[in-house]
Order: sequence, then structure tokens, then C-alpha cells
Amino acid sequence: MSLPESFRETLNLPVIASPMFLVSGPELVIEACKAGIVGTFPALNQRTSEGFESWLIEIQTALQAYEEETGRKAAPFGVNLIVHASNPRLAADLEICKRHKVPLIITSLGAVPDVVKQVHAYGGLVFHDVATVRHAQKAAQADVDGLIAVCAGAGGHAGVLNPFAFVSEIRQFFNGTLVLAGCLSTGRDVATAQVMGADMAYMGTRFISTQESQAVAEYKQMIVDSSAADIAYTSEISGISANFLKPSLSAAGLDPNTGKPLDAEVVTAKKELNLGEELTAPKEGASAWKSIWSAGQGVGAVHSIPCVSELISQLHEEYVEATVEYAQISREYMFKPVGRA
Ligand SMILES: Cc1cc2nc3c(=O)[nH]c(=O)nc-3n(C[C@H](O)[C@H](O)[C@H](O)COP(=O)(O)O)c2cc1C
Repeated sequence: MSLPESFRETLNLPVIASPMFLVSGPELVIEACKAGIVGTFPALNQRTSEGFESWLIEIQTALQAYEEETGRKAAPFGVNLIVHASNPRLAADLEICKRHKVPLIITSLGAVPDVVKQVHAYGGLVFHDVATVRHAQKAAQADVDGLIAVCAGAGGHAGVLNPFAFVSEIRQFFNGTLVLAGCLSTGRDVATAQVMGADMAYMGTRFISTQESQAVAEYKQMIVDSSAADIAYTSEISGISANFLKPSLSAAGLDPNTGKPLDAEVVTAKKELNLGEELTAPKEGASAWKSIWSAGQGVGAVHSIPCVSELISQLHEEYVEATVEYAQISREYMFKPVGRA
């Protein structure tokens, strides 16, 4: 098990509220860090680098005030940077992160040794998110502090690997912090991730349905109303395979199972025959993430839209219950004679 010292000192639960495009903002991050988990957001959730810096200032000011008022240390926060030629803001946003000494940088797409070096130089940490073993190996070689194993069923651009397979392969070459991502929605899931050999849980979908997330009310409610069968994995929407809520695909006039446009004539014909009233012809202006909503297969465990602090208390309770149960199970088997002797 490997956790950075700054995490060990401040976390109440080994959880990162993961960065989500158009969903995570300062309010969610501040409340997460106050309650003792790592709060994060993508730099690109602000349209400009200036806007991004203003969010950093807002977060740092609020957390400093919290620490002065309570005498307690807030958990560290993190920023997600897309390290790829398609992101023209990378250099400017990285400079801002350096100026504000952002405690955790979560890199996506590219694990570049130079970025890692620049973050380490001011004392920051770099976690890199990966969906394949090859990318995990490359990131480990780039000297990242943590790997985020994005497994099958995760919200956003999910991987296809089973978590048991992925965690066990990564652990054969990486001793740094290992964060498990994909369908983790409860405190029991957090405990399970640790038993599997991960150090922390990365939770996205569960945090969309919180009061402080920037998702619209209908999106939050759709998650509460959905289960794993309502999630479609398709590359039709953003060009890269990702998980989307089928009801939001239908509402956009897309085939809920494939994400492909529905044939307008078929839709009209079916409606005339009173078949498939829920179908809509393809809609102008429906766009990925904004009105076609992403979520992971863990939606079935989301039944409420609490505020972040309530959610973290609930996760903590569930986590403790699961670890106590696990200790009982392990006591039951610990002294059993095994093997032939
Ligand atoms: C709506 C949505 C937007 C996301 N946007 C990003 C993003 O901008 N950057 C990123 O690194 N990951 C992004 N992700 C992936 C999450 O950070 C995380 O890997 C994933 O949600 C974990 O799986 P879970 O949703 O099953 O908990 C997004 C996920 C969702 C659901």
C-alpha cells in the first residue's frame, strides 16, 4: 500500500472525487476537500486560462479560510490537464498550476516526463489515468507518483479491462499509489478496491448526483433513475469509446444502444403505428457531454442527490461497516489448516 504523506495526513477516506468535464467545479472541490477526500476538476471546465486561475484562487482561499476557522487541515485538491497536442492551453495552464503549487496534477492522454519533472520541482504530485497496461508501463517510466486504472464500466472514456486483471498486472511493476476507477459508488466499493490491492478509489458518477455538481437537475435525476442496463458504451458520440446514459441518447434522437442517428422516416412510421412513442428524430444541437450525458455502470447504486458532505459521511459509514465485516471474515479463515499437512 502506498499513499503520499500529504494524503495520509489529511484524508478521512481514501477517495478522489474524479475530474468531470462540465460537472466538477469549485463548489464540489471545496466541499470534498473540507470533508476529507481529494476534490478535483478539469482545467478545461473554464473556457480560458484566466478563468481557470480564478477558480484556483477561489478554491485556495476557501480552503485556507476553512483551515483557519477549524484548525483542521483540508484534503489536497487536484487539477486534470490534457497532455496532448489537441490542447493548446497546456503550457499556460501548467504555468498557472506551478504558480499556485497545485498539490495534485492528474494527467490524461500523455504521461510526459517533462511535465512530471516540472510538477515535482514545486513539490506537487502527478497521477496519470490509464486504460491499458502498455500506457500504465509508459507512465510508470515517466516517474508519475500514481496510476489511475480506468476499468470497464467507468463513466467518461472508460477502458475495457476487468479491475482484477488490471490491478494485478499493474502491481507487478508499479509500487506507487494505485487508484482504481470504474463503478465505485459506495463505501463498500472503496474498501473492496483496497482489498484488491489498490490504494484509493476514484469516483466520478457518484458525485454527478450531488447538490454541488454543475450537472443540470435532469441529468442528476436520470442517474438516480438508471441502472447498469441503461448505460451504452459507444464511440459514436465523441469518437472515442465512452459510456453514456441511454435515455439521453434517445432524447437526442439517437439509437440508445449504439448512439447512431435514428432514421427519421422509421421514427415517424413507428409513431404512426403507436410503436416506440419514446423515439425522437435526430435533434439539431444535441452535443456530447452537454445534452448527451455520460455516466458509468455504477449508476444502479446511486439513489439520492445529497450534498457532498452528507455523501462522504455516508461513504465513511459504509466503508467502516465493510472493513469490520471483512475483518470478521478473515478471522474466520485465518487459522484454518490449509494444504495437505
Ligand atoms: C460526465 C463525465 C465527464 C468526465 N470528464 C473527464 C475529464 O474531463 N477528464 C478526465 O480525466 N476524466 C473524465 N471523466 C472520467 C472520470 O474522471 C472517472 O475516470 C470516471 O468517472 C470513473 O468512473 P465512474 O464514473 O464509474 O466512477 C469523466 C467522467 C464523466 C462521467
